[in-house]
Amino acid sequence: MASGQLSRAGALACTGCRHACHVMLYCDTKTQLFGRIPIRHIILMQMRFDGLLGFPGGYVTPSEETLEAGLSRELLEELGVALPILAEDHVDCCQAPASSHSSTSRLITHFYVKKMEEEQIKEVEKEAASTATDHGQEVLGMVRVPLYTTKNGGGLAPFLSHSFIGNARSQLVDSLLRLDMIAPEELHKALGHSLK
Ligand code: APR
Ligand code: MG
Ligand code: MG
Repeated sequence: MASGQLSRAGALACTGCRHACHVMLYCDTKTQLFGRIPIRHIILMQMRFDGLLGFPGGYVTPSEETLEAGLSRELLEELGVALPILAEDHVDCCQAPASSHSSTSRLITHFYVKKMEEEQIKEVEKEAASTATDHGQEVLGMVRVPLYTTKNGGGLAPFLSHSFIGNARSQLVDSLLRLDMIAPEELHKALGHSLK
């Protein structure tokens, strides 16, 4: 287990901790940008109320609900759809650094990944922009992650240079590698350019 990471049981055993759950929803796609650049995958992130990019989800209360039920409740508010999230979709949890949250209790962030069909992802986007109660308030809009690099360097590198909440950026980068969504050398090139 990587440093900073906790086991799920260890995380839940911390009684004084606050917990937040977020999920990366994604699908495969055959669509091509400009009819020639493969988009490969649609990955959903959101522009948050604080101007930062992040994944949908939020605070959960393990004493009152399971992590997954709490996450589903947050998704209903933020995306306007009832999405069942399973314990097997749980990827990791880690303790947020003390400076990343204002309350005195420690925050543990749980990350989930859920693969969907392209039609389901489009439905989520539609509902998030229409029926979701948080639309225009806690969530300013859903965004797709560009995984390609255009001739003039557009795409993933400029996307990664935006500001992200908590460890959302590393959750995204780690997922791209783990799920084989991008060649490691292409990702490292984009990461190098995003730091400039
Ligand atoms: N990785 C790590 N930490 C994250 C991530 C992430 N990907 N996303 C969010 N966090 C942390 C942030 O510190 C965030 O404030 O988890 C906290 C809770 O997540 P939110 O999605 O912001 O929580 P939500 O329940 O949807 O929002 C409710 O939280 O920030 C407050 O007042 C704000 O009304 C808002 C309330
Ligand atoms: Mg919320
Ligand atoms: Mg949220």
